[in-house]
Amino acid sequence: MKLVHGHLPIDAPAGVQGWDIDPYSPEVQADPVPYYAQLRERGPFSYLTRYSMLACGRYDVVREVFSDHERFVSSRGVGVQDFALEEPWRPHSIILEVDPPYHNRTRRVLMRALSPKAVADLRAYFLDEARDLVSDLVAQGEFEAVEALAETYPTRVFPKAVGMKLSDRRKLVDHGSMVFNALGPDNAQRQTAMAMGPEIIPWVMEQCKRENLTDDGIGAAIYASADEELVSEAEAGMLVRSLLSAGIDTTVTGIGNAVWTLSQNPEQFAALRADPSLAMGAFDETMRLTSPVAAFCRTACVDTEVAGIKIAEGTKILCVLGAANLDSAKFEEAERFDIKRKTAGHLALGVGVHMCVGQNIARAEGQAILTAIAEQVGVIEPAGDAVWRPNNAMHALESLPVRFG
Ligand code: HEM
Repeated sequence: MKLVHGHLPIDAPAGVQGWDIDPYSPEVQADPVPYYAQLRERGPFSYLTRYSMLACGRYDVVREVFSDHERFVSSRGVGVQDFALEEPWRPHSIILEVDPPYHNRTRRVLMRALSPKAVADLRAYFLDEARDLVSDLVAQGEFEAVEALAETYPTRVFPKAVGMKLSDRRKLVDHGSMVFNALGPDNAQRQTAMAMGPEIIPWVMEQCKRENLTDDGIGAAIYASADEELVSEAEAGMLVRSLLSAGIDTTVTGIGNAVWTLSQNPEQFAALRADPSLAMGAFDETMRLTSPVAAFCRTACVDTEVAGIKIAEGTKILCVLGAANLDSAKFEEAERFDIKRKTAGHLALGVGVHMCVGQNIARAEGQAILTAIAEQVGVIEPAGDAVWRPNNAMHALESLPVRFG
């Protein structure tokens, strides 16, 4: 059987219309909101003719497919490639790209290393670093916020929290770009990112080794689980790799998007300044509104049915979290940024057994940086056009010129 983009080609199921849009094109990636709206309007599923797979964007449907690990597995890859039919570009993740029952074991190890207690110990450090960085940026006045803030902050605090003895901002950010672009088809975005592999992958693997980690960080806590024989030493190294894969680009994007949403909504920033305790809510609302992880796939492992549509075993389904999070059937005035909104149930961090295991860290970083901004910045003004970065899975900024006044 000839594969299409690394997966089994399927015919459009009965009742599902073909659609020739390319969700992986730079144009759609730069401005995905109209695509999100069309995807929801078209029905529970659309058949992507270029990719011979399904896509869904309505909240209830995305939630059902994304969370039902018994019918829609992650072990066949969360990108377009089906790992049951084609080798992944690197050894697969032993947390994101596996199913229960194996997943339960690795998940437990990361849950413990990233527990609310472990994160509580980091909060004061995160806030100190955020206050220092924001104070430097206020002194600077005008700056490019992706590099100077969104990339700088997580690549400063997260490697320290993990216990990396050696850190390198550029390599960590480029590694994230590879991991997320790899989930798409073999387009220009993927090829550009993959070209960095020979330099970056060996460096990342080296930093995941026990001897290259301090004995008091999250990495050491993961290796401690190997001492207790919950996982092997090799598995512990792979779990540290997962943190470096999933814990940098995501927070860089979340923080960049948060500065963008606040710069676009001065009245919401005024509300945050008036009450910096809204920082956590503002970060969650940014995640809901902009969905840093825009879309991941699942693969049907049985013949099944969702929303009255028959889905065949082997079908790849693009679950568009960004579209679900803007569904007005779930969130009133869904396209409005409102930092006081009840965001519970948004899918930006996923749902079900794979829901983001690093969410305590993500929220702690977002809260720290937005608190520091609320304390020290009077106004956030755009100082040029924001440019979005094409990426096969993330909705991230390339550059964001702003002025802190
Ligand atoms: C704003 C920041 C973040 C966003 C938007 C985000 C988003 C997500 C999403 C949507 C998933 C679910 C994937 C799926 O079900 O297929 C996920 C899983 C995951 N995230 Fe995050 N994440 C963020 C930050 C982090 C951080 C800081 C870490 C590490 C400390 C992390 C580590 C992971 C891991 C290891 C998984 C896989 C969990 C599993 O499969 O059980 N993430 N994340």
